[in-house]
Amino acid sequence: MRAQQQHDVLVIGSGAAGLTAALQLADTADVAVLAKGPLDECSTRYAQGGVAAVIDRSDSISAHVEDTLKAGAGLCNPDAVRFTVAHSTEAIGWLIELGVPFTRETGPDGRDVYHLTREGGHSHRRVIHAADYTGLSIEETLLAHARAHPRIHLFERHIAIDLVCGVDGAGTRRCYGAYVLDRAADEVAAFSARSVVLASGGASKVYLYTSNPDGATGDGIAMAWRAGCRVANLEFNQFHPTCLFHPEAKSFLITEALRGEGARLLLPDGTRFMPGFDPRAELAPRDIVARAIDHEIKRLGIDCVHLDISHKPAGFIRDHFPTVHDRCLEFGIDITRDPIPVVPAAHYTCGGVRTDLRGRTDVDGLYAIGETSSTGLHGANRMASNSLLECLVFGRSAAADIRSQLPVLDVPPEVRAWDESRVTDSDEEVVVAHNWDELRRFMWDYVGIVRTDKRLRRAHDRVTLLLREIAEYYGNFRVTNDLLELRHLAVVADLIIRSAMARRESRGLHYTLDHPASDDTTPPADTVLTPPNLPAEPFSERRD
Ligand code: FAD
Ligand code: SIN
Repeated sequence: MRAQQQHDVLVIGSGAAGLTAALQLADTADVAVLAKGPLDECSTRYAQGGVAAVIDRSDSISAHVEDTLKAGAGLCNPDAVRFTVAHSTEAIGWLIELGVPFTRETGPDGRDVYHLTREGGHSHRRVIHAADYTGLSIEETLLAHARAHPRIHLFERHIAIDLVCGVDGAGTRRCYGAYVLDRAADEVAAFSARSVVLASGGASKVYLYTSNPDGATGDGIAMAWRAGCRVANLEFNQFHPTCLFHPEAKSFLITEALRGEGARLLLPDGTRFMPGFDPRAELAPRDIVARAIDHEIKRLGIDCVHLDISHKPAGFIRDHFPTVHDRCLEFGIDITRDPIPVVPAAHYTCGGVRTDLRGRTDVDGLYAIGETSSTGLHGANRMASNSLLECLVFGRSAAADIRSQLPVLDVPPEVRAWDESRVTDSDEEVVVAHNWDELRRFMWDYVGIVRTDKRLRRAHDRVTLLLREIAEYYGNFRVTNDLLELRHLAVVADLIIRSAMARRESRGLHYTLDHPASDDTTPPADTVLTPPNLPAEPFSERRD
């Protein structure tokens, strides 16, 4: 690979958000898309439930907006919610045009219609899906179109290290590209572009147990923070209530759509417990269900609870949930007959890089879309299946904004080559492995579903130490994928802890025993963290 790459737009991420933006741009611009692993290895690929959108005639934009605002516990930006929901139908229409094979059924009047399922917090059936492999179908379809487009250049196994920013002729801070490690060649290249889009997914890997793939290390959030962008609401980490509990299952997700279709949560003695916690029972929003399960597990000293759909016809279960059915069978669980052992696991990063409705961040030329961003849609708790929708809607709106800007933007200055003259190969890889484990464990123990002031202080002490150690290591040794991810993840962990410490109430996904109620004395406000002042000169973050 060339050590200098120049493109109109650099998109960091090849999930639903990144590929949507790339496809929307490619007819007018030359686009580079990076993935740090294989192109299709991302959270998008694993999405099961579907995409929330106003499709059914009995549903309405105002009902979807209302449900989203309610789940967000007072912190959604109503403009962002309305904007997203109002664009939901056209976003789904675009996917259908591209060929995503959403599940169909025969409607009550004999017409062929899309099957819509239901999930927690939704007052209507509005989740369009491709059986229980919706994400895979979307990812495969988008990727096939991207591969076929002559102006989209796909770079897999290329991990972005840091953004390159500087000050333009008008004195405005701008993003000009990124330094990127080509993992196969073991070389760092400088990518320059007129616009850069962070579409690098969430950070749930910061927790020991997560439904997310290994790459969910919050890289975009950390890079944007170091480049001078504000981040918001990072204390709101969503724990999915039902991940398969099995030593070899690596937190395989059991989709909420099972509960949407009638599955019940049971204690080991077969008692149903959710109605005692919320009138919506198994279809209460996720924070409530996850906390109820956590409470029962701790109260009874048990390893897991059970999710049971075996009262439904076996054919219905196999048709609607083939992925879950087959995966559970691999572990000896036949979901048409047996209850499924489940536990909560970290699932979604509600906060992120603060943006407006066009995906613009605080740095000119830098956009953030998808799970990396904080658009205001999710507030203190994301409603199920609103995430893929956000990826599509903001992928499209950011692309439209970039398209309108490109004609007036100058070609970016050449980015200085990466300097390795003062580093050597690592002498102790064990430091990286140890810090990875330590970070994820204390985040799970101290910054998890239930928090306290003391636990957060402990976590803060530990992350401060780790950040120092990682900075020293990064300054001395050649970069590797594991080191880069750890460096990103530690920054995000610190931001999560600091955001959680700043919120002295319980709200949505942030629950603390020291402040168990919501503070209703003042209007609810976002937690916004502002990075320290940055040098005005162009910088190469690492070696100058
Ligand atoms: P991702 O799809 O995670 O893509 C991130 C991309 O960024 C990857 O290509 C990765 O390689 C790349 N990347 C990251 N860091 C770097 C770097 N430093 N350099 C280069 N590339 C980088 N949401 C719903 O709405 N409905 C669902 O049914 C649903 N089910 C889910 C089930 C599971 C198991 C999971 C994990 C999530 C689910 N979600 C669901 C959430 C949703 O899938 C994600 O929020 C969404 O797919 C995120 O898309 P994205 O494009 O922002 O990021
Ligand atoms: C699920 O299928 O339960 C996940 C849906 C989501 O995270 O939106």
